[in-house]
Amino acid sequence: MSCKIVVLISGNGSNLQAIIDAVASGTLPVQIAAVISNVPGAYGLERAKKAGIPAIVIDHKTFPSRDAFDAELLTTLQSLDCDLIVLAGFMRILGNTLVETFTGKMLNLHPSLLPKYPGLHTHQRAIDAGDTNHGCSIHFVTHDLDGGPVVAQARLMIKTGENADNLAARVHQLEHQLYPEVLRWYATGRLTYQQGQGLLDGKIIA
Ligand code: GRF
Repeated sequence: MSCKIVVLISGNGSNLQAIIDAVASGTLPVQIAAVISNVPGAYGLERAKKAGIPAIVIDHKTFPSRDAFDAELLTTLQSLDCDLIVLAGFMRILGNTLVETFTGKMLNLHPSLLPKYPGLHTHQRAIDAGDTNHGCSIHFVTHDLDGGPVVAQARLMIKTGENADNLAARVHQLEHQLYPEVLRWYATGRLTYQQGQGLLDGKIIA
């Protein structure tokens, strides 16, 4: 039985593309049931359409409140009846009901080596702090913003004098490798979630 995923985006969708490409090449055994964007003009929607994947817009600006937006997103996700929700550059904070409904079934990609730099502007913050290492993390989504159990990280060395744009581009390349790999783990049953912890092959991920 194939693992059915829904990918949530807000922008360019290069990570979505990496997932689409991995599926197309036969190396990622998932079915992308839909792509949902909270931004109507997000380029990722075009990527979805080109791949023949249903592209759904739920524009947060058209809802009177955060709760109303969340309720619509929840209804849509439930109707899609997927195994896993994949946040890939989705720039909205999700409310408690959504997070609780999909505990252990929702992954997020964050462009830092968590627990360092939750939130925004992670690349500049790593440079400003004088860090030598930086990278990206994939974690299960919990109530803590960018604070759920980390499943996997990829890292690189920050070059002397490197600016945030250059660093972001290099971190993106890591993301494009890491997300399909982690999804493969989930789809093949290697990655699970139990009592607030991520497990790989039955062992707690430290
Ligand atoms: C990625 O850098 C991700 O880490 C962050 O948003 C960016 C999304 O990029 N959360 P893309 O839309 O997948 O190109």
